[in-house]
Amino acid sequence: ENMREDNLNEETKSLISSLPSHKDFLGKQLYNYQGCWYYPNTLQGVLNFQKGFKPQETDIILASFPKSGTTWLKALTIALFERFNNTSSSLQFDNPHGLVPFLEMSLYHKTSIPDLTKFSPSSPRLFSTHMPFHTLQAPFKDESSPCKIVYVCRNVKDVLVSQWYFRCAYLEKEVEDKSTLESSFESLCSGIGYFGPFWENVLSYWRGSLEDPEHVLFMRYEEMKSDPSAQVKRLAEFLGCPFTEEEHGCVDKILELCSLRSLSSMEINKTGKTSNNLHHSSFFRKGEVGDSKNHLTPEMETKIDMIIEEKYKGSGFKY
Ligand code: A3P
Repeated sequence: ENMREDNLNEETKSLISSLPSHKDFLGKQLYNYQGCWYYPNTLQGVLNFQKGFKPQETDIILASFPKSGTTWLKALTIALFERFNNTSSSLQFDNPHGLVPFLEMSLYHKTSIPDLTKFSPSSPRLFSTHMPFHTLQAPFKDESSPCKIVYVCRNVKDVLVSQWYFRCAYLEKEVEDKSTLESSFESLCSGIGYFGPFWENVLSYWRGSLEDPEHVLFMRYEEMKSDPSAQVKRLAEFLGCPFTEEEHGCVDKILELCSLRSLSSMEINKTGKTSNNLHHSSFFRKGEVGDSKNHLTPEMETKIDMIIEEKYKGSGFKY
C-alpha cells in the first residue's frame, strides 16, 4: 500500500514531478524528499505529518531505520509506562506497531488531521517513525524538539539480512531466494531504497543526540542484547520514569515480557496483521547479533564495510 500513489493530493502530485526519482528492484517508483527515499503514499504521509503535527512536551517518538529493533523498542517503552498499572499488559492485546503507530505510515498516512483521541490522556502519546531527524523536526518551531525522541541503531549487515528475510516473507518467496538478497544489498550500498540511505538516517539522529541529549537518546541494538537491564534503565531514566529502589525485579519482568520468545508466542502476534497488511509474526525472527555472517559473502561484507567507513568518516561516529 505504501508503494501506491492513491493517497496523493494535487499539491504532492505536483511536488513529486520535481523530485529526484528512481525505480526500486521491483520497478516501483521511489522519490527523494529532504535527502531520503520514499514510496509515494509514504511521502504523502510525511508531508501530512509536517503540515499537521502539533507536538506536546510529553510526547515520545521512537525512531529507527527499518529492521533495527523498532518492535522491541516499542514493546519496552510500552512496558515501562504500564508497570505502574496492575492490569494485564496491552502487549497481550495488540502488536507493538498497533500500540505505537507510525506517524508517516499510519497516523498521517491519509490525513494531516488524524484523530489522536485514542491516546490515553493519563500517559504520554507514543509515536514512531523511520523518517530522518531533520524531516521529523520540521513541525517543531525554533528547530529544537519539545518532545523526547529515542533512536535505535543496529549493525548495518544484520539490518540487511533482517530486511532480506522480511522482504521474502512479504513477497511470499522462499527464504533461500538469493536474488532478493542481491537486490537488497545493491539498494543498501547505493543508498537508494525505502528510507535510505541507511547512513544518513543513522547520522541524522546521532548528531541530534549530541546536540540535544536531553531530548534525543541514541540506543544500539547490540548493547540492548548484551546488557539489556542497563539499557532499559537508561531508557527509563531518559523518559523520566526511572526505576526506584522498591522496584526490585521489575526490570527483569519487563525484559521477560518483551523478549522475542514471549512476544512472538502471544496469540495476537501469531495471528494478527498490521494496518498495512503485514503479518505480526513477520516482525519476530531470530533477534541475534551477527546473523549476517551466515548469509553474506566475504565480498559483500567487505564492500559494506568500505562504504560505511567512508560515509562515517569525519563524523566521529563509530559502529
Ligand atoms: P532479525 O531479522 O535479525 O531476527 P524491526 O522491529 O525494526 O522491524 O526489526 C526486526 C528485527 O528485530 C528482527 O531481527 C527481529 O527478530 C528482531 N526483534 C523483534 N522483536 C525482538 C525482541 N523482542 N527482542 C530482540 N529482537 C527482536
